[in-house]
Amino acid sequence: MKKVFLVIGILFICFRASSQEKETVIRVYPNQGKQIINKHIYGHFAEHLGTCIYGGLWVGENSPVPNINGYRKDAVEALKKLQIPNLRWPGGCFADEYHWMDGIGPRANRPKMVNNNWGGVVEDNSFGTHEFLNLCELLGCEPYISGNVGSGTVEELAKWVEYMTSAGDSPMANLRRQNGREKPWKVKYLGVGNESWGCGGDMLPEYYSDLYRRYAVYCRNFDGNRLFKIASGASDYDYNWTETLMKKIGNKMNGLSLHYYTVTGWNGSKGSATNFSTDDYYWILGKCLEIEEVIQKHSSIMDKYDSNKRIGLMVDEWGTWFDVEPGTNPGFLYQQNTMRDAFVAALTLNVFNKYSDRISMANIAQVANVLQSMILTKDEKMILTPTYHVFEMYKVHQDATYLPLEILSDTKEIRKRNVPLVSASASQKDGITHITLANIDLDAAQSIVIDCSGLKLNNVTGRILTSAKINDYNTFEKPDAIKPQVFKDVKISNGKLTVKLPAKAIAVLEIR
Ligand code: AHR
Repeated sequence: MKKVFLVIGILFICFRASSQEKETVIRVYPNQGKQIINKHIYGHFAEHLGTCIYGGLWVGENSPVPNINGYRKDAVEALKKLQIPNLRWPGGCFADEYHWMDGIGPRANRPKMVNNNWGGVVEDNSFGTHEFLNLCELLGCEPYISGNVGSGTVEELAKWVEYMTSAGDSPMANLRRQNGREKPWKVKYLGVGNESWGCGGDMLPEYYSDLYRRYAVYCRNFDGNRLFKIASGASDYDYNWTETLMKKIGNKMNGLSLHYYTVTGWNGSKGSATNFSTDDYYWILGKCLEIEEVIQKHSSIMDKYDSNKRIGLMVDEWGTWFDVEPGTNPGFLYQQNTMRDAFVAALTLNVFNKYSDRISMANIAQVANVLQSMILTKDEKMILTPTYHVFEMYKVHQDATYLPLEILSDTKEIRKRNVPLVSASASQKDGITHITLANIDLDAAQSIVIDCSGLKLNNVTGRILTSAKINDYNTFEKPDAIKPQVFKDVKISNGKLTVKLPAKAIAVLEIR
């Protein structure tokens, strides 16, 4: 009798195990890669907002927090590991109230201002042009300067460009020398305004287009520095903004920006970053994936005017936007970062890779202590977020050739939205192929067969990011609760890869 129960028990366990597992087929086309995934898609954004700059990146030379000339040592080391390709600064909304001349010269003499956009706090301008551009040099990344069009002048922005990039005997270059920097910096990326339809001046697209033309004339290329001018683009679904700018100034811009935040729960509220239901989770991932349709629509408008795809679509603000952590300043946009955020990063980056024929830059908001951050800091402590780990795992795609792929997987229906359970992208560089995979299913593992006909499969290794609960996150007490681990559930069999990807897991595979 005991034996019968044992057999039934084993059968039951086996049945449950298999019903808990779903099947997905992915076809990768290794010989059809045409487009390069621009490394700048893995870009970042640092605004004078909350504790992103002050506390997050900059503590000053006299701080007890270990620093390199005032920059947090731990933050610099962490960001270097990500190979961050570029950093956008000084905003955001802050950029259109920022007067760069207040942020140069001896720090004690710099005038103060009120940061009207973000909490009304006093900004002492101790982090200015030199501090930012030197940070970029330290990180080995390219600076992306966001110019003040909303409340500044053409002269002010033109002089800023001269100050940063002129090598000659020009008034602004001499002022820079007086402030201790002989050689100009290389500054390629220049944003002509930010959200000019909103906090950047509340303009109409026709008016902004005219203004852009004036700014573009006077922002000059000095001494071999070639500016890549980025027009302030649309938010989300504002296709008219893109249409008008492409029609009027398409021939004058190098890039056009787009902002898309994964914001607002199904009931209209932003919701907590850490305390959410299963339905909230799937809903948010559905909203995140909606970015694909938004990109397709903006791109098809751009195609009408720019069929050769000369102009880059720069998604220079994206990421999750939840309620601030209880007890924190509502103007500081400080939120925790769970495995759900990791999925938003993984899914979005897979979409950006796919459209890298048009998208040439993207900047997650923001790099430290604001919105969907890479790092969170508290005095001398710093933690890496799950989103950081996704960027670290995905950095293999930077400047690699995108390999087209098809995914046949189940979907999850959530309030009339159908969300695919598996997301992936593949790329190749220096003879090595990488595949990033995400299984968003909270309950079931995925048995994934990856068919990459034409690709030699000699050896495959992997890393995985997962956690017991979807709302798990790293804390200052347990900073390594979530971090990538070696992933062994991947095999080569009959010329295919078979992967058993657990529920709520993100993986990167390396194939040689
Ligand atoms: O990233 C926070 C803010 O979001 C930026 O300052 C602004 O450009 C956008 O609305």
